[in-house]
Amino acid sequence: MSLRRRASLIVLAVVVIVAGLGAWLAPPTRPMAFAGGSAVTLANYSGPDPTGVPSELRGADLVTRGRYLATAADCGVCHTAPGGAEFAGGLPFKTPFGTLYSPNITPDRETGIGAWSEADFLRAVHKGVAKDGSRLYPAFPYEAYSLMADADVLAIRAYLFSLAPVRNTPPANRLMFPFNQRPLMAIWGALYNPDQRFRPHTDRSPQWNRGAYLVEALAHCGDCHTARNLAQAPDNRKKFGGAVIQGWRAYNITQDRASGVGAWTDAELAAYLRGGHVLGRGAAAGPMAEAINASLSRLAPSDTLAMVAYLRTIPAVGSRDLPAPKTELASDLPKEMAGGGDRRGREVFAGACASCHGWSGKSPLFPHANLTGVRAVNDPSAINVAQVVINGARLERAGGDVVMPAFGQTYSNAEIAAVANYVTARFGSARSEITARDVARLR
Ligand code: HEC
Ligand code: HEC
Ligand code: HEC
Repeated sequence: MSLRRRASLIVLAVVVIVAGLGAWLAPPTRPMAFAGGSAVTLANYSGPDPTGVPSELRGADLVTRGRYLATAADCGVCHTAPGGAEFAGGLPFKTPFGTLYSPNITPDRETGIGAWSEADFLRAVHKGVAKDGSRLYPAFPYEAYSLMADADVLAIRAYLFSLAPVRNTPPANRLMFPFNQRPLMAIWGALYNPDQRFRPHTDRSPQWNRGAYLVEALAHCGDCHTARNLAQAPDNRKKFGGAVIQGWRAYNITQDRASGVGAWTDAELAAYLRGGHVLGRGAAAGPMAEAINASLSRLAPSDTLAMVAYLRTIPAVGSRDLPAPKTELASDLPKEMAGGGDRRGREVFAGACASCHGWSGKSPLFPHANLTGVRAVNDPSAINVAQVVINGARLERAGGDVVMPAFGQTYSNAEIAAVANYVTARFGSARSEITARDVARLR
């Protein structure tokens, strides 16, 4: 046996063992398994069609429908590099195994998908197999998109093909051996991508089914909010129980009252998904703000309400380390060290933050900059607070042009850690102890 062949067999064995261990520790669970009841294929469902576009757009042409669906599935966010042309690819994905770049999905024949047939495109989106037969990495969330109806995938293709082709070849991936072996992804797919279209639940309302389709097949909330198992597949036994993604914490969005969104009203959830902000609960930053800006804020109001109806039925999963947010305001006096905190943190807060955020947690300037009640400041890991300080925050739809500047260049890791610890101690229910080294890792 040649050395190369032997090496690839060893790699295969390692991956089978890891995937097997992953499957054993967390057997694959379908994303809607929690709902129980009976599910039927779309063809056998007699209720209103939960797939496709909302009723407002039912009469629209194919490209318009495709654009709506591509927006709901947020294809652009991953396939657009900062400063690059939309859908032309090149956005880096840093993984523990190396860096992966999203491909160009504009209709350019050489560098994009211009030469892909309808069948090629369907196979990629449902099965994670590229035109040349190579296996795609699940950084492309095809295990969610495999729920999408064929007609919807083809509408998205029609929309992409209506765009101007952009000539762009993203950088080659830099992945460590054995993760650079694409054929191994076939094992992942076999275990974790059931490759089944969405099946409506006959004992649930049409609104619930529409919400389920939007949340699971298109918006792929679980890609960020569900923790992954050893084999990097979402572990639906703790569905929507929260996870860390791209250095941010995507919080628990189950119905748990203390650590999830069980205490939020329907109107609050809808307002957050449409505008990224709820008075007394916080503003979305980081990857959630991106999802809201590019996708969720652009959906029809009836679709937002359907998503809320579905979210309401997600079983509660408690996150032990997330206490219920503190709702009382802190003292208005800067000198009073409500809840403790160190001097350096207070100095940074006084110099860079207090003018917008105030000392009590109630902003003197913009309601969406209140810190009291915000999940991030009640998270004792403080990683989102540190991220917001490093990167700033920009919600397009909440407060008009109001933005929080990025302080990553202004302050050292030690100062950012100090101000994050000060903020959680002063406004949150459990103080954090994030260190300069933790902040360095987040950058
Ligand atoms: C979370 C990020 C993410 C989202 C959202 C996403 N993609 Fe991708 N997509 C990727 C990455 C990363 C790859 C490359 C995977 C690889 O190299 O194995 C990819 C690969 C692809 C490919 C294969 C292209 C090729 O040249 O091999 C197609 C087609 C594609 N995506 C289409 C879509 C469509 C359509 C949507 C929306 C329905 C979408 N993607 C949403 C990250 C994403
Ligand atoms: C790209 C990753 C990503 C996707 C996709 C995503 N989220 Fe989030 N979400 C986050 C992050 C990160 C946060 C924390 C934001 C912050 O601290 O400002 C968050 C916060 C939230 C919150 C606020 C929780 C709290 O306690 O403050 C809700 C509610 C939420 N997401 C719901 C959803 C829903 C519903 C979907 C799908 C329709 C979704 N998210 C899709 C990453 C994501
Ligand atoms: C120019 C005004 C301004 C300044 C200065 C400012 N912020 Fe903000 N901050 C905001 C606004 C506005 C928001 C609401 C988020 C948005 O609009 O995207 C926010 C949001 C936040 C959040 C909540 C993010 C979330 O995930 O919910 C935290 C925490 C925060 N700021 C901390 C700080 C700290 C610490 C400083 C000082 C280093 C600071 N801010 C300086 C305006 C400001």
